[in-house]
Amino acid sequence: MTFREDGYAAVDWAARYLERVGDLPVLAQVEPGELSSQLPASPPERAEPFADVLRDLDELIVPALTNWQHPRFFAYFAVTSSEPGILAELLAATLNQVGFLWRTSPASTELELRVADWVRQLLGLPDGWHGHIEDTASTSTLAALIAARQVTGRDVVVCSEHAHSSVDKAARMLGMELRKVAADDELRMRVDDDLRLDDVAVVVPTVGTTSFASVDPVRELAERAHAAGAWVHVDAAYAGSAWICEEERWSQDGVELADSLVVNPHKWLLIPMDCSLLWTSRPDDFRQAFSLVTEYLRTSEDVYSLSEYGPALGRRFRSLKLWAVLRCYGREGLQQVVREHIRLAELFARWVDADLDWELGAPRRFSLVVFRRNGSDEENEALLERVNATGELFISHTRLNGRYLLRLAIGSERTTEADVRRAWDVLRREASRA
Ligand SMILES: Cc1ncc(COP(=O)(O)O)c(C=O)c1O
Repeated sequence: MTFREDGYAAVDWAARYLERVGDLPVLAQVEPGELSSQLPASPPERAEPFADVLRDLDELIVPALTNWQHPRFFAYFAVTSSEPGILAELLAATLNQVGFLWRTSPASTELELRVADWVRQLLGLPDGWHGHIEDTASTSTLAALIAARQVTGRDVVVCSEHAHSSVDKAARMLGMELRKVAADDELRMRVDDDLRLDDVAVVVPTVGTTSFASVDPVRELAERAHAAGAWVHVDAAYAGSAWICEEERWSQDGVELADSLVVNPHKWLLIPMDCSLLWTSRPDDFRQAFSLVTEYLRTSEDVYSLSEYGPALGRRFRSLKLWAVLRCYGREGLQQVVREHIRLAELFARWVDADLDWELGAPRRFSLVVFRRNGSDEENEALLERVNATGELFISHTRLNGRYLLRLAIGSERTTEADVRRAWDVLRREASRA
């Protein structure tokens, strides 16, 4: 077999998978260790044909997949790896650019800067911000905390009790002290008069918290933080993508004051995992924190490289998939997807609200609905396990003040109203079986 024939077979496999993914169980229906027991313990001695890999993909790997591309994947933050994104990943692997210097990949460096700026424009962010791509929001936030600590010479991180665990993890890795601030009734970080920020390196407001998609008061926090000499890093990993729709920009209030901002196009802009955009209004401070040009990295060109803005030296050609998706959907196509997800979430929230056996656990925000069935926490937990075991849909949970809540997040391009209706039917069916 040639590369071309294997390639056609692989693309054919991908197309067939996407056509039938809706018929597969959403959550993997295997026990821990089941796949491991089927994989050879030692590596192959002799070369095997690629066709054997494709065969085992069907026989061994697919049964052990939780199918994130399934239209009824509603857990965590549901995502989409869109077709232009998939093809661009194939091409990026073909080109295998290792963009640690401008000269090691002028294309990767310059395309990354351009598409980061395209997304900045699409989301209505301030002119002049410098954007680059990291793998995940965890890395973007880690990088922002490193820059903030270096600039301020301080060691304290402040965020809300509902901030993502990546903030805790970054602070822990850096040996910084984390101060969590209680949230108000709207699940927004409370900004009381006694909130002291004079020894704080960085305040991290969240736009679209993981559990509830709530929105911290960014403007108030940024004003207070800046008055105290602290850095402001906004985590809009999930909800930032919604700013492509003007009507969602109410949640952007104050973001223009941020020193840095993370938005994950791999969450809600149809980009395959991984792609996290990190913008800063203070690029010189990032460069100061991260630039380390040893002898072998010196070149004669008067240009900087993007590895001077974050932790990694070798950098993947991630901008290619962003470029492909932005071009193949355009602003209008992406707006349509985001608007449809929000519409479907609102529809589901209305069904929950109208049924006396169920209640909303928080107001619907963006494409996330938090809800529960009347009854105990244990009953709701058992309901989640039963529903997920059907393989018909996959939802996740959170807790608020100790109370167990179910979460349904819409983010798959394949999700239709019929899928959301089916999710509601399965939930009610399984609840009535208790
Ligand atoms: C608000 C928020 N921030 C950060 C993250 C971490 O994202 P990543 O997996 O890209 O590190 C998540 C993940 O869901 C999130 O919801």
